[in-house]
Amino acid sequence: MSLLEVENACKTFASRQRGGDPVQALRGVSLQVEAGETLAIIGESGSGKSTLGRAVLRLLELDEGSVRMDGVDLAGLSPSELRAKRAEMQIVFQEPYESLNPRMSIGSIVAEPLQIHRKGLGAAQIRKLVIEVLERVGLPAKVATRLPGELSGGQQQRVGVARAVVSEPKFVVLDEPTSSLDLSIRAQILELLAQLQADLGLAYLFVSHDMHTVEKVSDRIAVMYLGEIVETAPTVDLFRSPQHPYTQTLLSARLSADPREKHAYRAYEGDASVRATPPQQAPA
Ligand SMILES: Nc1ncnc2c1ncn2[C@@H]1O[C@H](COP(=O)(O)OP(=O)(O)O)[C@@H](O)[C@H]1O
Ligand SMILES: [Mg+2]
Repeated sequence: MSLLEVENACKTFASRQRGGDPVQALRGVSLQVEAGETLAIIGESGSGKSTLGRAVLRLLELDEGSVRMDGVDLAGLSPSELRAKRAEMQIVFQEPYESLNPRMSIGSIVAEPLQIHRKGLGAAQIRKLVIEVLERVGLPAKVATRLPGELSGGQQQRVGVARAVVSEPKFVVLDEPTSSLDLSIRAQILELLAQLQADLGLAYLFVSHDMHTVEKVSDRIAVMYLGEIVETAPTVDLFRSPQHPYTQTLLSARLSADPREKHAYRAYEGDASVRATPPQQAPA
């Protein structure tokens, strides 16, 4: 039994445009995630990645198919059972600022999952755990009293990560967690996510549209195209011998990918202190 098992997930949305055709965002998606591993979902914008990420946490309901966590079908859970299960399955969103309540202090944002999932804890214990997790994600304790708008994008995403891991989940959906960040900051957040995975034994469903990123972070890759997974393979195999024509296209596009990206990673590897670098310009 895998940690997470998705079988034949289907989801159709009514069109956002009046009179438009319905959108089949998920067309029979099946996948498994093992404890402690990273499965990447790669695909272009609109291929259904975020829908899948939300559906596996039951943040949206499937039309068909099932999601099992530790063998338990999430659809069979009562609202309170589902809430308890949510402690084990969390999400980090693409846009950190939009996912953080602008009027709540960082401390309250990170404390919230503890208040929901660990009801027995007193205020002092919660404060202690919040400070611990802030330090774990590389933020000074003093940010606890700040508002999200007072932090940089990278710091905001560290808060998003802190909120996701504070309830000690086994499984975290990372929905393009670095896409909205400056290149120089991306590598640091990826580094943090890798460190947390090693320390806490987390499994990740890592949603991305960027082959460079998934090559670095994932054990296996599932390639999504128009609501379907067209190929799943260990990362090394997928890069060495992509089977599906769509995967081949993605990989050949990667060869001519933006040179700034490589430049940023190299800069990071050489110097771990590039935290507050402004957005990078293409090298001259
Ligand atoms: N709430 C919604 N209502 C209508 N269409 C939606 C909704 N959410 C997503 N879609 C559509 O479903 C498809 C998949 O979207 P999404 O899962 O966000 O893709 P991705 O994350 O890969 O960019 C897109 O065509 C998108 O426009
Ligand atoms: Mg998305």
